[in-house]
Amino acid sequence: MAATLEREQLRQRSDYTHKFNAKTGRHGWLRLTPAYSVKIVEELIVGHAQAKRIFDPFCGTGTTALSAAYHGHEGVTTDINPFLVWLAQAKTAHYTPKQIVATRKACNSVLDLVRRRSIEPVLAPPIHNIDRWWNPQSLDFLRFLRAAILEVTKERSVERTLLLIAFCRSLIELSNAAFNHQSMSFKDDRELGIASKIDRACVFAEDVKFVLSGASENPVGESQVIFGDSRNPAKAVEGPFDLVITSPPYANRMSYIRELRPYMYWLGFLINGRDAGELDWAAIGGTWGIATSRLADWKRSSGHFKSIHLAGALDEIAHADNKNGVVLANYVAKYFDDMWAHFQCLTPVLARGAELHYIVGNSTFYGSLVSTERLYAEMLKGLGFSKVECRAIRKRNSKKELVEFDVVARW
Ligand SMILES: C[S@@+](CC[C@H](N)C(=O)[O-])C[C@H]1O[C@@H](n2cnc3c(N)ncnc32)[C@H](O)[C@@H]1O
Repeated sequence: MAATLEREQLRQRSDYTHKFNAKTGRHGWLRLTPAYSVKIVEELIVGHAQAKRIFDPFCGTGTTALSAAYHGHEGVTTDINPFLVWLAQAKTAHYTPKQIVATRKACNSVLDLVRRRSIEPVLAPPIHNIDRWWNPQSLDFLRFLRAAILEVTKERSVERTLLLIAFCRSLIELSNAAFNHQSMSFKDDRELGIASKIDRACVFAEDVKFVLSGASENPVGESQVIFGDSRNPAKAVEGPFDLVITSPPYANRMSYIRELRPYMYWLGFLINGRDAGELDWAAIGGTWGIATSRLADWKRSSGHFKSIHLAGALDEIAHADNKNGVVLANYVAKYFDDMWAHFQCLTPVLARGAELHYIVGNSTFYGSLVSTERLYAEMLKGLGFSKVECRAIRKRNSKKELVEFDVVARW
């Protein structure tokens, strides 16, 4: 009983992937977006019952594609992060009762192997300061658990995929990381005391149970999750789409690679810091490691997005009383140039009359407000979209000027 309580306390304090568990199991497997975003997407999809093919060029953990499929539409989505493509493919897949039973059995065999310690554990992943993430007992458990999943299941099998998703949940649950604030921190000593008493096999068994309960709810519609760059959607997907619902990266220096690094290292999607920086550089709005140093020398191309509003914001940021002003102005310029490339290349995959919904927040840099929604609207009008509107959805956190919008347009 006490152990259950401690686990519940730990669960409540940590892990954004658990904090925002939605009712629908698969939305809660692993999420980048909070529950209200899932709700907005659901509402938009429900409000567009006539839409047949729904496209999300920035898949993340697959909210749009999954909701589209649950409501009987065809959901198509792309992402530039291979881990997220893998995860969203797993979330949107259909599972048979036989596969669920086989995964449950595989889980028992895995935990048996871990208990007996009768396999060679995998090496700890090369995560910087790994001892801040996991205490020695948890790290040891995860190394055996990962090895046992590989031993018991076949490559690319459903059992392996579902157990690895549960493994992802467990590795965060067993970590010292706390996701109580916008950025991640590490737990204090008291919380770590609770963590050291945890029954780790039970944590994993519960995560498998949670994942399997989601897997048994099959969406009625179909989804396709494809690795692709949203700056050239036509290369990855075939149109026409009659509805686009997406949440692109914000111009706020959040790095998805940084956020996802524990999963990506453990699952082998990342093998070193350099690759992490390269992936972040390839993503829109990424600024981690090498991506930041590259920004210092980055130059806008001749076809860049030309806007008086953007030029004013860039000038203010570059001349702010801060040594990083020029790099940050480059960051913001690159973000909008990338989004401009995205919008320009989106039209070939749209049906005439297609409706767009971009859920995005504005940003501030050294006190200068960057009105992302207004700049998107400017781009869309410039490309010939009609009925362009910026609908405020909600205020974000403590800074009163930070607001999230639904930028709407019709092709
Ligand atoms: C705000 S998140 C999407 C969140 C998503 N709505 C969800 O449910 O998790 C933005 C996503 O855009 C992806 N991304 C960034 N640059 C990209 C690009 N050039 N092409 C495709 N996806 C990209 C990131 O990897 C990230 O997953």
